[in-house]
Amino acid sequence: MKASLLLIGLLSAGVAFAGPPAPHQSGIEGKDYKWNAQEGEKIEALHKKGDAKNGKEAYEVCGACHLPSGAGRPDGTFPQLAGQHSTVLIKQIADIRAGLRDNPTMYPFAATLTDPQELADVALYINGLCIPSNHGTYEGSDASIQVSKGKELFEKECKECHGKNGEGNKEKFFPVIAGQHYKYLLRQMTEIRDGKRRNANPDMVKIIKKYDNDQLVAISAYQASLVMPGSMCKAGPAKKK
Ligand code: HEC
Ligand code: HEC
Repeated sequence: MKASLLLIGLLSAGVAFAGPPAPHQSGIEGKDYKWNAQEGEKIEALHKKGDAKNGKEAYEVCGACHLPSGAGRPDGTFPQLAGQHSTVLIKQIADIRAGLRDNPTMYPFAATLTDPQELADVALYINGLCIPSNHGTYEGSDASIQVSKGKELFEKECKECHGKNGEGNKEKFFPVIAGQHYKYLLRQMTEIRDGKRRNANPDMVKIIKKYDNDQLVAISAYQASLVMPGSMCKAGPAKKK
């Protein structure tokens, strides 16, 4: 209840201007920054046992954008979150809170999570939601060509980390990309390639640097076509896996 009142307040105040501005860290590998350094609130949250009931409450404010089901929006403005690895969720939220990944729209809401325990709680809750299968895919008339072009690239250079079915890797903080919206995937890969998502994995950056826009379209079309056996559902009201 408190969370939704806050949301209405922030939205009417114009989200980007509400509260203190997001912090900004360089995120360039060097003496002050190492990719995914195991420190700060992130490492504390990773070591806590989450509580799904508290996580559900903490998630209330998030559902306004990411939807109560965690499905996000097919137009790619808000990513699908359901079923994402808890490690990935904790890293991304902690990076947004710390100013390593810019997200001015979400920052004021990420800042409402009180402590590492609440981070662990919300991550556990989101991870338990089933991955919607009716997400945004590539809709061009050349879809089958794009998907097969993208498959070739993905299997050569991305499968090793993101998995054959787009299942990612929990221990290594590699995101699930199956069930993700095409337009969100394309935007993220463009930002990672262009150095705008500063918390990105440097090994992935090295690979994606050489891709042109057409290749990013193809590889996004392929990723959005992936399904993870057993974990996908029709998006609807939040359901347990
Ligand atoms: C006002 C809208 C809004 C709210 C509320 C919001 N988010 Fe987000 N969130 C976004 C946007 C926009 C992005 C994608 C930003 C980008 O394109 O880089 C995002 C990205 C994320 C990501 C990264 C996903 C990925 O695949 O890397 C996570 C995790 C996340 N949000 C969790 C949360 C949680 C948890 C809450 C509640 C505490 C929350 N969000 C509230 C807008 C919102
Ligand atoms: C060395 C492992 C590795 C390789 C190789 C790799 N990635 Fe990634 N990828 C990651 C990690 C880790 C992240 C999360 C960003 C971060 O915080 O570091 C990520 C993020 C992403 C995202 C954004 C997901 C989200 O939810 O926001 C997409 C899309 C993606 N990778 C696609 C690809 C594609 C396509 C390739 C091949 C061209 C690739 N990756 C190669 C590790 C890798």
